[in-house]
Amino acid sequence: MRLRIKQLRLETKIKKPRLKIITMSDKIFIFDTTLRDGEQVPGCQLDTQEKVVIAKELELLGVDVIEAGFPISSPEDFRSIIEISKAVNDPVVCALTRAVMSDIDCAAESLKYAKRKRIHTGIGASDFHIKHKFNSTREKIIERGVAAVKYAKKFVEDVEFYAEDAGRADNAFLAQMVEAMIAAGATVINIPDTTGYCLPQAYGEKIKYLMDHVSNIDRAILSCHCHNDLGMATANTIAGIQNGARQVEVTMNGIGERAGNTSLEEVAMILKTHQSLPYHTDINTRKIHYMSTLVSKMMRMPVQPNKAIVGRNAFAHSSGIHQDGVLKNRDNYEIIAPEDVGVNESSIVLTARSGKAALNFHLTRLGYHLEKPKLEETYERFLKMADEQKDVSDEDMITLMEGKRPDTNIEISHVQVVCGQPLQPVSTVELIVNGEARRESATGNGPINATLRAIDKIMGAKIELEEFLVQSMGGSRETGKVHLRIKYEGQTYQGFGIEEDIVMASVHAYVNALNKIMLFKVTKPVKQKVAV
Ligand code: KIV
Ligand code: ZN
Repeated sequence: MRLRIKQLRLETKIKKPRLKIITMSDKIFIFDTTLRDGEQVPGCQLDTQEKVVIAKELELLGVDVIEAGFPISSPEDFRSIIEISKAVNDPVVCALTRAVMSDIDCAAESLKYAKRKRIHTGIGASDFHIKHKFNSTREKIIERGVAAVKYAKKFVEDVEFYAEDAGRADNAFLAQMVEAMIAAGATVINIPDTTGYCLPQAYGEKIKYLMDHVSNIDRAILSCHCHNDLGMATANTIAGIQNGARQVEVTMNGIGERAGNTSLEEVAMILKTHQSLPYHTDINTRKIHYMSTLVSKMMRMPVQPNKAIVGRNAFAHSSGIHQDGVLKNRDNYEIIAPEDVGVNESSIVLTARSGKAALNFHLTRLGYHLEKPKLEETYERFLKMADEQKDVSDEDMITLMEGKRPDTNIEISHVQVVCGQPLQPVSTVELIVNGEARRESATGNGPINATLRAIDKIMGAKIELEEFLVQSMGGSRETGKVHLRIKYEGQTYQGFGIEEDIVMASVHAYVNALNKIMLFKVTKPVKQKVAV
């Protein structure tokens, strides 16, 4: 247990009585449900191999429990739990069931290789669910829940019970239900705000009510499972912790049913940032950015740019006042050190709102050292340029200083793609690199993938595609717009392309980013390492 905050009085009889203050904090168990509640999102489905990759990374991230799936729901889910159980050692592997005996049999079977295992069973707790989902009564629902917990106990020691829609359930009935499940052997009681309805104060009070009114509460821990329908999932989870819950059910990037679940990175960073809160997690926060990118890529679910902690703009400063403040001392506008979540550095984005400090910072980085009057004059021209376009790239800055656009080292000569069922897409690309024609072909799982792979072969460099976004322009189906981000030798470069054909838009975007690498790596060595 990490020593922090909570104060203990230790008195000794041997020495003179004195007051010794030891700071301690309670551990909050992280129950990750990215592979279960997160994976229920349409389009986010993963195969077993992909789930194993994510599970192993979750283990390295430091989660305590991995909810690996709902095994009765599909043979693939069942197989995934088997493989995840074999692949991870430290985290508890958990399988979800309904309060149905055949579900529990299936869960027990799927967990047979797990070193540490948990069955997560449960049933509706709100009168709404009892009437409209189960057509039952409060008494019968408790009986079913108790029978399910007792049955699950035959297979595993660690049984978690979920009281579905607890957020809208009557607190007195919920307390009765929780007490019965703990008496039946449940070790963890999950209080889901299934519909994301609760206000933080009400959810906190619900947890407190259970802590105060369930006579055997000391034999189990309460878990918060909040949905984000009204944008309150994280606030509700924190309120739950502050009122006695010691486990939180979360997903990477907050993905999950409808508006999603509480996001892991937000809870972990709130508890780390607010040192006055007497709680900690075992999350290795420096892995957060990597984990977020991995989940986003594998689940094909982009992270919104302004998403707390992991959004592209989470550490980007664009207004003049903020940029000036950050350049003087980044604590002026950053409460989290980017390195703490695995982001290399903050970025200072140049827009029409930027000030002279930011402009000077970037000019210096590109090798231009201007005296004050020249900076003033350049700033006026910069503002004009920034007003005309959304943001200003390094290429634009060179144009500003040199009076002409920098030469492009790579030009597209020709692109030919063959694709369609049942052929494997093949692409042949010819680029002119520093005046020399280079041609390569590659296959891929789609025409864009094949084309970018052919370009990679031409360039012969290890380039990582970090983000790829294709959009149709103005609602038309005919014009494709591609934004992408690539990483080369630790530095990130953005590319943009617009064409009627989305393959060609992708090629233009990729070549645009590659030209930036050539420009800044070859002709203008970067002096200070800052992402743009
Ligand atoms: O939101 C919910 O109630 C759930 C339960 C199945 C735990 O996901
Ligand atoms: Zn849920």
